[in-house]
Amino acid sequence: MAFPYQLKTPDAYHDAYRQSQKDPEAFWAGIASHFTWHKPWHSVVRSDFHTATHSWFEGGKLNITENCLDRYAASQPDTTAILWEPNNPAESTRTLTYRQLLDEVMLFANALKHRGICKGDRVCIYMGMVPELAIAVLACARIGAIHSVIFGGFSASSIADRVQDAGAKAIITCDGAFRGAKTIPLKSVVDDALQHCPTVQSVWVLRRTHEPVSMHNGRDYDWHSETEAMRATGNTHCHAESMDAEDPLFILYTSGSTGKPKGVVHTTAGYMLWAHYTFINVFQYQPGQIHFCTADIGWITGHSYILYGPLSAGATTLMFEGIPTWPDAGRFWDIVQKHNVDILYTAPTAIRSLMTFGTAPLQNKDLSSLKVLGTVGEPINAEAWHWYDREVGKGNAPIADTWWQTETGGIMISNLAGVTPAKPTFATLPLPGVFPVLVDENGKEIAGNGVSGNLCIQKPWPGIIRSTWGDHERCRQTYFSTYPGLYFTGDGCLRDEDGHYRITGRVDDVLSVSGHRIGTAEVENAINMHAGVVESAVVGFPHDIKGQGIYAYVICSSMPANETEMRQDILQTVSQVIGPIAKPDAIQFVSGLPKTRSGKIMRRILRKIAEGETQNLGDTTTLLDPGVVEEILRGKQA
Ligand code: WT7
Repeated sequence: MAFPYQLKTPDAYHDAYRQSQKDPEAFWAGIASHFTWHKPWHSVVRSDFHTATHSWFEGGKLNITENCLDRYAASQPDTTAILWEPNNPAESTRTLTYRQLLDEVMLFANALKHRGICKGDRVCIYMGMVPELAIAVLACARIGAIHSVIFGGFSASSIADRVQDAGAKAIITCDGAFRGAKTIPLKSVVDDALQHCPTVQSVWVLRRTHEPVSMHNGRDYDWHSETEAMRATGNTHCHAESMDAEDPLFILYTSGSTGKPKGVVHTTAGYMLWAHYTFINVFQYQPGQIHFCTADIGWITGHSYILYGPLSAGATTLMFEGIPTWPDAGRFWDIVQKHNVDILYTAPTAIRSLMTFGTAPLQNKDLSSLKVLGTVGEPINAEAWHWYDREVGKGNAPIADTWWQTETGGIMISNLAGVTPAKPTFATLPLPGVFPVLVDENGKEIAGNGVSGNLCIQKPWPGIIRSTWGDHERCRQTYFSTYPGLYFTGDGCLRDEDGHYRITGRVDDVLSVSGHRIGTAEVENAINMHAGVVESAVVGFPHDIKGQGIYAYVICSSMPANETEMRQDILQTVSQVIGPIAKPDAIQFVSGLPKTRSGKIMRRILRKIAEGETQNLGDTTTLLDPGVVEEILRGKQA
């Protein structure tokens, strides 16, 4: 049997859950024994929630790429590891078998080494969704360099922030990326960022769009010539660096309630185990299946369920360069039909956006290969859930609603597709090793069923966040200090009469816009950089397709003479500072913001107004100037 720890019945799930509670050490040691290690661990788990220190499989040595590549290059060399679908359907599909992927990874790893990249160095990766992105990530892991992938929708100044924070020595990028009808000039964005990044010594450039780029002598290297040089000199084998179980594998920056994104750190063994175990069990992966996760590798979903989860299982992972609506809204369905996709994992925002095109794009598309569907990133509304089930799964493909976070490394709460019951809009039950608790504002546990509260996790799991790069105290403060002894997720949650969990959304100042995580403070900082802006307040509001939209209240130094022009300038500023993904959907110019006497902005009121509420704004008596609320209501953006 391929995966003896795959839970195939409800009883098997409940048994595993109980075992993971009763004897976590034995439970996880059993699973870890199925991986390739250079040296065994001496302790399975050590954890202290008060200092936010967690270690799994301490003493053990391994390399994640041997577990993702070498073992399958030996046992199933000709199985397709990466099946790549280009942005333009007229261009050919590319495939890389496990043997070929390992060879390419070793070649590029040698190219990195040749230019002085070593174990522990940080390497930022800013590329489109091409197979070389996967190769770059895995090449870093091969030599023990810590990768930090930056989503292609971030601006030069966001890249610079991340590169500086990580102290990155190298950047890997492309000339440009194809996305639908657009071309994104990645290298020129990197060039702008590099004006402020003295730690970067080398830049690798993969040619994809073949648009002209500047190549700085002595700093910029062409991906193709560098790897060909390795081939020509016979530098084709690269041994896998022996990593400590707790050596950092990657940093991934994510937004929180403060203005500055933080670098979430995941380490080698625990993350690997968690990505693998959750992949096998949630999607009920069977050998030979094609897994299509539509996320971008710039987000954690791509790390765990395009790369490490599927590859650690020897699966065929489908990587798609384009977008769901180009050349038309049937693109996902064309891909499913063309490649006989078995598992489709996408976001509610994609489903809702495709729903607006009706069912015509689905006509005459053969989706009968689909066995399992998944959703992630934000709460899925009932209408989208049923559409996905009916129109895509044809009532035959169980939907796994998977709740997790960048910080958790992998899926935490989800039904196991076709094994444990699904319930529309519910993530349902925790995976083995995950022990959720609901608490009230004061941190008091809310026991029993049919209750709501703030979602916390009370024991360490293998994929738990290890640190925030360069500032461990920030990690402790953000996640482990709100409710001492617990990991706080930032999400509100309902536990129904059957004990099933339903995530209701963030309770902090973090938004989920089209499934992208954006902090309101970050957007405010960006708006405030506009020369004419004095102050701003940003809140989320319900958006039919994006889940949440961004609503900005802005005070200008003088009321803008041309509001349309000012709005466009603010949008342009936000694009420059963060990236196009953070552009507000609505901007309202105001002369004041509702503040308490101590100067705190009452976001609760602003949120209600943005939601369209006019009457029940709650208590406004503590406001410094209640008149400001009247004014804001009058000027509300449609
Ligand atoms: C936040 C984490 C996990 C990968 C993608 C997002 C929200 C995530 C669900 C779900 C309701 C969800 C939460 C969480 N979220 N999955 N199935 N149902 N909400 O990762 O960018 O770290 O965002 O996404 O609010 O805290 P992320």
